[in-house]
Amino acid sequence: MLKIVSAEFMQGAVNTQQFPQSSVPEFAFFGRSNAGKSSLINMLLNRKNLVKTGSKPGMTKEINFFIVNGPAAAKQASLKTFCVADLPGYGFAQRSFSERNRIDKMLYGYCTARTQLKALFFLMDIRRDPTETERHTLDFFKQHGIKTVLTATKSDKIGKTEQQQRITTLAAFFNCAKDGILLTSSSKKTGREQLLNLISGYLDS
Ligand code: GTP
Ligand code: MG
Repeated sequence: MLKIVSAEFMQGAVNTQQFPQSSVPEFAFFGRSNAGKSSLINMLLNRKNLVKTGSKPGMTKEINFFIVNGPAAAKQASLKTFCVADLPGYGFAQRSFSERNRIDKMLYGYCTARTQLKALFFLMDIRRDPTETERHTLDFFKQHGIKTVLTATKSDKIGKTEQQQRITTLAAFFNCAKDGILLTSSSKKTGREQLLNLISGYLDS
């Protein structure tokens, strides 16, 4: 299994000019405000508070980049270095119009120009019904050749039977296979191994 020995905050960006210039393979976490992006990154990297999470939606307003198994750690031959990008959530109505516009532009810039992006995890609260926004967004990623992993979050909030029903609903909505949807819970650490395996697979491809 992919081993993580270090994870450090690298840089925050509020516009495309501030994106770190690096050739390290990158993985992005994307989704509606409050979907659980920052929590899932903390869970993946095994760090309680590396990324700030919040009960108020709209917590993350910039793209935050983290380096995993950075230069010092990667001296150990078997370790792979990669980058994680925590993207700000979309659909937070209480943000001012200009703030939304800035974030949308930055997200567009990120998705269209980030050549080192290996895959994007598209997070959705398992209890929420996806909308046309999610469908269009997924189409946009496909059109731009971005490998996207649909990721259901907060699975601990519902029982096992309901989890399977929700996965069936999501798969039907997005017209994909049920096992193409990653089931996660950051509080229960559900799906961590699959996440690591997916990242490892993309790093090797
Ligand atoms: P923005 O930065 O605002 O876009 O939100 P985000 O997608 O980064 O969400 P964040 O990780 O900050 O989580 C939002 C809220 O959901 C917080 O109160 C978390 O504690 C909670 N939460 C996130 N993941 C889980 C989970 O797996 N289970 C449970 N029960 N709560 C979760
Ligand atoms: Mg966040």
